[in-house]
Amino acid sequence: QGWHASVLTLFPEMFPGPLGFSLAGEALKRGDWSLDAHDIRDHGLGRHRSVDDTPAGGGPGMVLRADVLASAIDAVCAADARPRFLMSPRGRPLEQARVRALAEGPGAVIVCGRFEGVDERVIAGRGLEEVSIGDYVLSGGELAAMVMIDACVRLLPGVMGHDSSGAEESFEAGLLEYPHYTRPRAWEGREIPEILLSGNHGAVARWRREEAERLTRARRPDLWEKKST
Ligand code: ADE
Repeated sequence: QGWHASVLTLFPEMFPGPLGFSLAGEALKRGDWSLDAHDIRDHGLGRHRSVDDTPAGGGPGMVLRADVLASAIDAVCAADARPRFLMSPRGRPLEQARVRALAEGPGAVIVCGRFEGVDERVIAGRGLEEVSIGDYVLSGGELAAMVMIDACVRLLPGVMGHDSSGAEESFEAGLLEYPHYTRPRAWEGREIPEILLSGNHGAVARWRREEAERLTRARRPDLWEKKST
């Protein structure tokens, strides 16, 4: 019961890490979700618990062995309904729509890549879906896994409280978020926009919508395009 994330990594001590703090951390302590991190090296071969080998065809770096990773995966989720992911810059970019769908499911099994890569055969052989968190390269999948888990956990029922739990948020409406202000009314010569102090809720809502659209057009023409088509 509860949303359940299992992570397979060579660095299980990294978890929960930042996921033990703030919203996600409080929810973890409450038992709204659970996390276990498994050491792939527990399935390593030989006296040195070896998990990698040189790439077939030559070249630099090391490749995570298919047999080792498969046995780690089988030990964690052989008969498990949860979707399985491999964090990788080659994957389909993570978007809020997928985060939402994932959060509505039972959880996720997440493999964190390291080295130059993992043996291609285990990806198909264990039904791993590759997911990227952006077009840059991290030194491993652990931070990417934390990003994906955090994005899901904050959407779980009861985790976020009331504030901005959905509809008005960035991406939920396909728009970037409108600007926020709080007291003091004037700060270093900068004023809160008059309309926000007017008490006219309709006018405030219209202003926020227009600002969100203006920001989206200016900063993320790709999002704006997707929205208007
Ligand atoms: N591992 C290394 N870089 C990554 C990225 N950008 N997304 C997901 N996993 C990764």
